[in-house]
Amino acid sequence: MREIEITNDGSATLYVKELDEHYHSVKGALTESEHIFRDCAFLYRSKGEVARVLEVGFGTGLNAVVTAMAADAEHPVHYISIEKYPVDADTLSQLKYGEIVDEKLYNGIINAEWNRVVEITPFFSLEKIEGDYLTDNLPSNIDVIYFDAFAPEKQPEMWSREAFERLYATTNSGAVLTTYCSKGVIRRMLMDIGFEVERIAGPPNGKREILRAIKR
Ligand SMILES: C[S@@+](CC[C@H](N)C(=O)[O-])C[C@H]1O[C@@H](n2cnc3c(N)ncnc32)[C@H](O)[C@@H]1O
Repeated sequence: MREIEITNDGSATLYVKELDEHYHSVKGALTESEHIFRDCAFLYRSKGEVARVLEVGFGTGLNAVVTAMAADAEHPVHYISIEKYPVDADTLSQLKYGEIVDEKLYNGIINAEWNRVVEITPFFSLEKIEGDYLTDNLPSNIDVIYFDAFAPEKQPEMWSREAFERLYATTNSGAVLTTYCSKGVIRRMLMDIGFEVERIAGPPNGKREILRAIKR
């Protein structure tokens, strides 16, 4: 069961009772998405060529639409997102994201067919994969990873060394991964796998730091 909740910046998120876990930060879903993923990963890495973005957990499509809104001739994107449990259309419409982001783009993204490439705009192509990040083959030549799984305490298997090694293998040199989780154990594991990792400031509405990992 997923319930709608309003976060501190006014944007909605989903709450999963069985896990006692939210899809986004309760301090601000939209603010989190813009800061951690769009600004600290995509725009940080983007270099004028098409950036291949891999998102772990499509969820509500908020990270996708925020990225699509930032994509342009200088920052073109091919966005691949894996989701094991797609959210139904009725729940998505109750989030009312159309009121806080570009509605046309958002509708294009959430209504896009799964498991095929869809040109949402000339600068943003989308590939939503209905599948399991832990067992499916992952796409290759990735430049940016939005690691947006549920928290390690709630879904530890998503944060295993083996899972991150697989992610590392998908990336190009210079690739950037960000995650809201700044735990030392995750940071050390990412470094051990070969990423250069920095703790950077989290979203402006909270005090927490986040992690940015770079493949040199
Ligand atoms: C924190 S939420 C992601 C929020 C999302 N990025 C957004 O913008 O709404 C974590 C997501 O991971 C998905 N998930 C859980 N296990 C998964 C798996 N094994 N493979 C792919 N996705 C998974 C969940 O269904 C959920 O949508």
